[in-house]
Amino acid sequence: MATSTTNTTTITHVRYTSIKRRVFTLMTSLAMSIIIAPTGISNAYAVGSVKEGGVKARACQVCHGKGGKSTKEAYPILAGQHAAYLRKQLQAFRTGARKDPIMNGMAIELSDQDIEDLAAFFSSIE
Ligand code: HEC
Repeated sequence: MATSTTNTTTITHVRYTSIKRRVFTLMTSLAMSIIIAPTGISNAYAVGSVKEGGVKARACQVCHGKGGKSTKEAYPILAGQHAAYLRKQLQAFRTGARKDPIMNGMAIELSDQDIEDLAAFFSSIE
């Protein structure tokens, strides 16, 4: 007869890294603006506005979920991605260097400022 010991050690370890990540994102964007701002090169990045990005992101949330927290496999999670990564992907979709029928169509409509604002917004979400 088997022992009646039921193993119920299903403890989920939720590691609280969200605060660390938020600080890191803040530091990264701060460092980026300090490094990039004084260079004066023509394609220097404008500073993205989280607030503006939030308004512009409404068009994106149909697919990417509220705040970019997608729950559908087909649509990547944008929430908490690094701003630099988001910027790079949106620029690549815009030029066509990265190909996706949906995103190429979305990105072609975006100005440099739109990209900065969207990147600032989605990277600010955890
Ligand atoms: C109609 C649905 C749809 C809408 C609306 C949409 N996207 Fe996407 N997006 C996608 C899909 C699908 C992909 C995955 C493309 C691929 O597989 O390469 C994607 C990929 C991306 C990626 C790359 C993510 C990664 O992890 O590499 C970014 C960044 C992105 N979208 C940003 C946006 C932004 C910003 C908007 C709003 C301006 C937007 N998307 C609107 C469907 C959409």
